Amino acid sequence: MKALFEVLQPGDPDFELAGTIDPHRLPKHIAIIMDGNGRWANRRSLPRVAGHRAGVGPVRSTVETCARLGIDVLTLYAFSVENWKRPRAEIETLWRLLRFYLGKELPELQKNAIRLQAIGRLEALPPKVRAELEAVIEATSHNRGLRVNLAINYGGRMEIVDAVNGIIERARLEGRLDALRVDEESIAAQLYTATSPDPDLLIRTSGEMRISNFLLWQIAYSELYVTETLWPDFNPTELLKAILEYQKRDRRYGGLSREGLNGARPDREENLIEAIVSSR
Ligand code: IPE
Ligand code: IPE
Ligand code: MG
Repeated sequence: MKALFEVLQPGDPDFELAGTIDPHRLPKHIAIIMDGNGRWANRRSLPRVAGHRAGVGPVRSTVETCARLGIDVLTLYAFSVENWKRPRAEIETLWRLLRFYLGKELPELQKNAIRLQAIGRLEALPPKVRAELEAVIEATSHNRGLRVNLAINYGGRMEIVDAVNGIIERARLEGRLDALRVDEESIAAQLYTATSPDPDLLIRTSGEMRISNFLLWQIAYSELYVTETLWPDFNPTELLKAILEYQKRDRRYGGLSREGLNGARPDREENLIEAIVSSR
């Protein structure tokens, strides 16, 4: 697959924007709360499901742009455990759209070495949806390009509870329940995302300033980016803007930035910088 920088031509609206992005400091993992489909439809006096339908295109273009940029992991929040509260007809449309996406997208995923994975309690999905999802996961499991995690029937708290219960169950089976202690490593290793790095950048569309139970554990030090753009209007330009903003952030992880060290005693400054760098 051609890199984004090879595909864009001078005159393309994204050409200049892409040129301002530092290819050496890209986020490894981008997570997106794809929100605002219903409002997009409402503004056009269309039924909510029309917004969901219009949300498929941006999924495709975002996956493609991330693959072209060389991002390692993209996690997309498609359906939360709380979304079951919605009318049945809306939920059924979401499953139909997922099946439509999976059915149509497989050749493209294969061509671009994209690996699809899912996070969430898949056992609650309608059997046909689950079977098709698992078939695409299996078919793409050997791909080594962009990894796309679809969060479906996903809840952050539920994930942590499942992880802890998994640890307890294993200890019980191995007869070491009495001495059991959990730590950050053992919980992280039991999460659905155990094999992915934590998200560097979390994007939420539609302006809502909340996390809505997404990746609670993993976003401890993610950079947050909220755009007013509704998900059906999200496009590669929007993604590039988010990445550019991410590259302006100073990720301190509780330490100090180089600017923050101004005024520190020069004899100690070296040690401080070393401490910060080695903690990353
Ligand atoms: C996001 O759009 C898609 C899902 C949650 C499945 P919404 O359907 O939440 O759209 P709004 O927030 O009502 O506009
Ligand atoms: C979060 O959006 C879930 C997904 C994008 C799948 P919601 O629309 O469900 O979140 P709230 O209800 O506004 O918090
Ligand atoms: Mg919403």
